[in-house]
Amino acid sequence: MHNVCRTLPESTERSIQFVVEADESTYDDAPMALDLSAIRREFATLHTNVSGAPVVYLDSAATALTPDSVWEDMRAFEKNARSNVHRGMHVLAERATDAYEAARDTVRTFVGAKHSQEIIFTKNTTEAINLVAHTFGETLEAGDTVLVSELEHHSAIVPWQQLAERKGIVVEWIGTDDNGNVRMDEYEQFLETRRVRLVMITAQSNVLGSRPPLKSMIQKAHTAGAVVLVDAAQFAAHHQVDVQAMDCDFLVFSGHKVYGPTGVGVLFGKRKLLEDMPPFLGGGSMIRTVTKEGFTPADIPQKFEAGTPPITQVIGLASAINWQAQFSWEEREAHERELLAHARKGLATIEGLTLLGTADASGCVSFTVDGVHPHDLTDVIGKQGICLRAGHHCAQPLHARLGVPATARLSVGIYNTTEDIDRCRERITNAVNLLRK
Ligand SMILES: Cc1ncc(COP(=O)(O)O)c(C=O)c1O
Repeated sequence: MHNVCRTLPESTERSIQFVVEADESTYDDAPMALDLSAIRREFATLHTNVSGAPVVYLDSAATALTPDSVWEDMRAFEKNARSNVHRGMHVLAERATDAYEAARDTVRTFVGAKHSQEIIFTKNTTEAINLVAHTFGETLEAGDTVLVSELEHHSAIVPWQQLAERKGIVVEWIGTDDNGNVRMDEYEQFLETRRVRLVMITAQSNVLGSRPPLKSMIQKAHTAGAVVLVDAAQFAAHHQVDVQAMDCDFLVFSGHKVYGPTGVGVLFGKRKLLEDMPPFLGGGSMIRTVTKEGFTPADIPQKFEAGTPPITQVIGLASAINWQAQFSWEEREAHERELLAHARKGLATIEGLTLLGTADASGCVSFTVDGVHPHDLTDVIGKQGICLRAGHHCAQPLHARLGVPATARLSVGIYNTTEDIDRCRERITNAVNLLRK
């Protein structure tokens, strides 16, 4: 474990030692087995009582819970090293800048990037996609095509529709089958027949949990001269990201879905692309010089980080990444597979309940129940402390494709147990009986 700031000695030296380590060896340490009781003790929220029992949190696809150690690291930073970054020369400013840049390197390792300048901190996934749409997007011309899949979240759709309004580009949709598999035949045809400049593709659907064949899609896009922006908002919480193996041009995710705080997101971009792109927001920190006549932008990554960044949240994100590095991906994935298999099996026994997606989906399972609106269902069980999400999950085009206005979604995180699933299934069964009366 590398959350150094929690173990600072109680002395005046304490603040001087504040660091969030970015240590490659973090990822080489022998991973610990998943001890669910111990893991659950680290999440205060799981011990919040509702109606006399601890909450059952099955909404990690919306936002994951955060281990207490992450809050402690953020608090330690605030207490011992709070200052702005890349500005002052005093000791606190240096400490804050060191911690902030160490966090960037932690994120670089987390996504497998070559250079830490390829990591840009944003507010969330949504802002990161908008950044690309407003910068790389500015290099597009009327008639150029952006391909978007039917699986996408609204934050991966609307920025391109806005770009279409601004610049006259064309947004085309890559269709999916009923299980959320992208139609590769359509994809290839678009690449062959249109002037495709960018492909927007999720690494994991937030509704169906399906994972498009990214490597082959990226290869095909590159052959056609297009760049690929991968939305890893869901994927990054459930599978190791490796931007070099993937060979994606851009990749985005949010801190709050990978057990970190809200208010911070990440854009990875290949260095050459980022260097060639114009800045996004203008202001302090993103410039090299400013005169009455104009400005020259700073180098990456500062060029894209105008103003005071979310420093404490960045520290928290690095802490969350270091926290989860103690567990192996293999074990995490096996655990989540077991949870979802258990959920699908249990939910399938409820009369009138239809499961969406396939058994090999990741992170979540969405469903509908005949004669029961998902909002009513999640409202009833929500009052009993069972936290599920219902609605269109910011994926209206996908719901339209599936022919349902709304679904209920059960999503899992590292801290969930089969008992959580059993309690949830029991409450759903009762609620369905109640709502059908
Ligand atoms: C697949 C996907 N993309 C993008 C987002 C947007 O993330 P944020 O709200 O953190 O910007 C989400 C959030 O649910 C998501 O699931």
